[in-house]
This record gives sequence, C-alpha cells and structure tokens, in this order.
Amino acid sequence: MLSSEVLSLIDQVNSGAKACQDENQNRDAQAELLATCRKLTAELESPFEAIRRFSFQPYETLALRIAIQLNLLDAIKDEDVTALGLATTTGADRLLIVRIMRVLCTMGVFTEKGVELYGAGRIALALRARPSLRDNVTTLFDFGLNAAAKLPSFLEKTSFANPTRDGSGLWQHAFNTPLDFWAWLEQDPERARAFHSSMVDRRHASADAAWFENYPVVANLCSTVPPASAEVLLVDVGGGWGQDLLAFASAHPSVPGRLILQDRAHALAEADRESLGRRRVEAIAHDFFDPQPVIGARAYYFHHIFHDWPDAECRTILQHTVAAMHPGGRSRLLIVEDVLPDVGVSSYLGLRDMHMMTLFGSMERNRGQWTELLGQEGLEVVKIWELGPKSESLIEAVLRQ
Ligand SMILES: C[S@@+](CC[C@H](N)C(=O)[O-])C[C@H]1O[C@@H](n2cnc3c(N)ncnc32)[C@H](O)[C@@H]1O
Repeated sequence: MLSSEVLSLIDQVNSGAKACQDENQNRDAQAELLATCRKLTAELESPFEAIRRFSFQPYETLALRIAIQLNLLDAIKDEDVTALGLATTTGADRLLIVRIMRVLCTMGVFTEKGVELYGAGRIALALRARPSLRDNVTTLFDFGLNAAAKLPSFLEKTSFANPTRDGSGLWQHAFNTPLDFWAWLEQDPERARAFHSSMVDRRHASADAAWFENYPVVANLCSTVPPASAEVLLVDVGGGWGQDLLAFASAHPSVPGRLILQDRAHALAEADRESLGRRRVEAIAHDFFDPQPVIGARAYYFHHIFHDWPDAECRTILQHTVAAMHPGGRSRLLIVEDVLPDVGVSSYLGLRDMHMMTLFGSMERNRGQWTELLGQEGLEVVKIWELGPKSESLIEAVLRQ
C-alpha cells in the first residue's frame, strides 16, 4: 500500500508536469518537477535499497570513466554495435566490454538492443557532442575520487579537524606531493587541458541563467561608459579559457569598454585566441595573489574562484581587488558562486562542498559567510541575484562608503 506521502508526491508530479507545458515557466518548472520526482523515488525506496545504492554508486562513475578511456562513445555511433565489434575496435576483452556495458545501459548512457548488442543512449549522445563533458567526468574521477578515497585516513591523521589548505593538506596526502592542486595540474599538460576544458560546458548541466541574463548590465555597468571607449568594462579574474566572457560578449555584442580575461599564464596558453579576438576579449596572464594591474574597471568578475580557496587566501585576493576598485559604486565586484541556504541545501551543492573540501581544503559558503568575508575587506553586498532554483547566485558588492 502506498503511503499518503507517496500519493501526495504523485499528485505534485502530475501538477508539476502540467506546469512544464507552460513555456514561460519551463526552466523553473522542470527543475521543480525533477526535485519532486527525486523526493518520490526516495520515499518509495526502502532504507536497505537506499544504503545499497549509496554503497555501489561509485561504480557507476567508474564504468563511465572506463567508457571514456576506451572511447566507447565514439565507437557506438549511428549503427548498433556488438560486444565483439567493440572489443575489436577498442582492443579490450569482449567479456570486459559486456560487464561494463551492463552497467552503462542501466545508467542510460547506452541502450541494450539485444544480446550483447548496443546503441547510443541520450547520455552518450550528449557526451559525444561535447568533449568538455567527458573531461568533466575524467577530472572528477581522476582528481576528486582518488583524493576522496584518502579522506577517511586523512581525517583520522588530523583528529577530524575541518580540512583547510596548509601545505600538508589532503591533496598533498592523497597524491604524495608537496605541490598544491594548481601547481600539480601545471606539471602535466594533458591533465591541465582536461581540467580547463571541463570548465567550459558546466552551464549545460544546470537550469541556471547566465549572470548577465538576470543582471541589468547596461544600467549598472555601462550606461556611463562612452562608446569605443578605452575604459575597462569587465575583468574576468581566473576566467579559464574565457568561456564566460565569450558568452557575455555574444549576448552583448555592442557594449562599450574593454573585456579582459585574466588567468595563470599556463591556463591562457591553451585558450582559443582566435575566438577571444573575434569577440574582442584581451587575455592577460595574471596571478590573483599579486596586485591587480587593471585599475578602475567597471566590474571585477569572479566565477567559481572563491569556493576554491579557504578564507585566508580569499581575503588576499579580495585585498588586491579592493585596491584596484574605484569608490562610490563606480567599480563593482561581481561574484558568481553558490550561496548555500541555511537549511535545505540540495544534494548537488552538499556534494560539491565536499568536493571543494577534498580538492582544495575550501568550501561553499552561505549568505552570512559571504557577507562576513566581503565585509572584512571593506566591501558591502548590494544585492544577491538568484540565477536559478537553489543554485548559483550573483553577489554584487561595492566598496563600503
Ligand atoms: C574553478 S576554475 C573557474 C574558471 C572560470 N572562472 C569558470 O567559472 O569557468 C578556477 C580558475 O582559477 C584559475 N586560477 C587558479 N589559481 C590562480 C591564480 N593564482 N591566479 C589566477 N588564476 C588562477 C585556474 O587556472 C582556473 O581557470
């Protein structure tokens, strides 16, 4: 017999499905419907089934990692392929292929068309269309899960102190290196390429709007910048290959002012200079632990930078930014990050916070933690703009008067 909770969730799923038909509400309504479906699944699953699922879940990531390693995504294109065919193409043992494919078919990556016969599923199609999504899986597995496996022994060693970067943190413990994550990344060009590529398509996995879709760009940033001006409109600090600035420039092709991309020289070396140039994005190597060389830009933009660093390092980066900002709201600080709610953090954000702990000894922050961190460096939060249901926000701050 179904419980009243389950019956009520089924009603909510039905009304959520109707809301999804309304085009104006589509994005939010779909996210809401998915959240209700997840609650329904959790309610239907017995505790034993849930515990078994948690215990075995890492093998799903493992199967996907191996599929990418064997290039199964390219091996199964428009035609269905047998396990023997895949073994011939990839050089792997047929029986190994069968065992990995069983799991991948249950995950919706591939579809089982018959005995040892496979076609591409919608997840395979998405992964094939966007190589950066494969890099996402690979880096999460190779960096994140390898380090995560060492977290219990590390916590034991540190008497269960909350991990913070100190040069002898989890990362160093897990990879037996004196280097921090970024220096370690730079030692291997393929590793670094995969990491920066994995940043490119992250927004496809979320229902969030881009920051410039919800923020009054023209009114708040460029209304007083003269056309064809040499003034700097936007500096994307730690902007990787320039993915966010490119998206901004295509949404606002005629905004006045210069667009500047900053990152470590190593990261910029792999960026597509031609695409950046076409969108008039200037790339400048800059370490954000050094003084900010661009003074008085209309906005200093940081996306997923501060969650990579513990408070002490964040304060140094902020000090350099504050020193470059003009007062009176003429320069603004724009930070796109997750702002955790005080209760009811989503599963994804809770997991991502643990990922930050594992890679960087850092964390995701709630509204109070953001306000305090920025306030310590003389910044005042003007507004926190929500970009999607329960996920990223744009924190807008100016120098305190
Ligand atoms: C999580 S990625 C975010 C990239 C980009 N902002 C985005 O959201 O797609 C962090 C970025 O910070 C850059 N970074 C790390 N340490 C840095 C430093 N000391 N100075 C400048 N950039 C740095 C990395 O190279 C990387 O591109």
